[in-house]
Amino acid sequence: MRRSLLEILVDPVERTPLTLNATATGPDDTVLEGTLTSTTGATYEITDGIPRFVPADEQQQTATSFGYKWKRQETYEFDHYVDLIRNDEVPRWGFDNVEQFYDMFRNRKRILDAGCGSAHFASIYVPHALTTGEWVGTDLSTAIHIAQQRLGQRPGTNFVRANLLELPYKDASFDMVFCRGVMHHTPSTYRAFKSLSRVVESGGEFAFLIYRKMGPIREFTDAYIRDEVISKLTPDEGWEALAPLTKLGKALAELKLEVDVPEDIPYLGIPKGKHDIHRLVYYYFLKAYWNPDLSFDTNQHNTFDWYHPPYSSHHTAEEIQAWAKEAGFKVTFMKEMETSWAVRTVRL
Ligand SMILES: C[S@@+](CC[C@H](N)C(=O)[O-])C[C@H]1O[C@@H](n2cnc3c(N)ncnc32)[C@H](O)[C@@H]1O
Repeated sequence: MRRSLLEILVDPVERTPLTLNATATGPDDTVLEGTLTSTTGATYEITDGIPRFVPADEQQQTATSFGYKWKRQETYEFDHYVDLIRNDEVPRWGFDNVEQFYDMFRNRKRILDAGCGSAHFASIYVPHALTTGEWVGTDLSTAIHIAQQRLGQRPGTNFVRANLLELPYKDASFDMVFCRGVMHHTPSTYRAFKSLSRVVESGGEFAFLIYRKMGPIREFTDAYIRDEVISKLTPDEGWEALAPLTKLGKALAELKLEVDVPEDIPYLGIPKGKHDIHRLVYYYFLKAYWNPDLSFDTNQHNTFDWYHPPYSSHHTAEEIQAWAKEAGFKVTFMKEMETSWAVRTVRL
């Protein structure tokens, strides 16, 4: 961590200041090894430049699941996939081109990327958007070490292992909080939202992506597959057990058949009209994901991300609006997508 980070760090539970004892330092005013001690005596280790605020057993299965997924770098680290993700972000946040997407991050004083994982996604925007400010990547899992390997050489970057529900940052520390696909993986999306809201300064932006509530059959199947089967398995077992679903997705997609649904079925959320059979099953029945432009393992990565982490809550537009209002944020943009909402808010 850079010493400047100390300005905003607090004890995540007591929210009192921390004292740094650095035992090994590196270039650019970085602390490689040491401890942070609170006024009440709680001590947090800094190892390989990363302060750690989570005990080993905190949301352990979530941390293990994401630690595993991000370690399988061969399934997501290649140019074609990065291009695909980058291109998806432009319409997702309501932009016409990628420069406008980068602009969302440019000229910020301090950005928190909450739940940055291995910073695979962050590496799309950080090199283009981080000018003079600071970027603080924070994640529950060991993936934060991969994030550091990826972005640690860039000036202004910091990496912290912490829980969104108990953030080690002073109130109003950031003029941008970006949280892409994370809050719904905590035991309470509402608490995660509240916790992140408090670290946004007045006039600052809080942009996030969270899962949306889908049709009832899809919600039922998802809950059954995740809660009763896959999340009970080890990551390796879960990965294997999901292969038949990915194969089903492939088989359905290869049919290239359409069905004409004669009338709306409102209680199942299925609209009338022409549907590709694969997309119909995928949207309304179960996540048999298949994208023909990606390898089998990359498709599997996507299915694993959906079904293995134990917490995955899905939310409505009304819930999001109510949380924002309660926390004193104005929703400036909200878009419904296949499985999630992209939301931009500003703190009043
Ligand atoms: C689907 S990944 C999203 C990663 C990244 N934001 C992206 O868009 O690619 C979810 C990440 O949230 C992290 N996570 C889950 N629960 C968390 C918590 N309570 N506190 C911090 N991070 C958490 C996981 O470790 C994982 O890296």
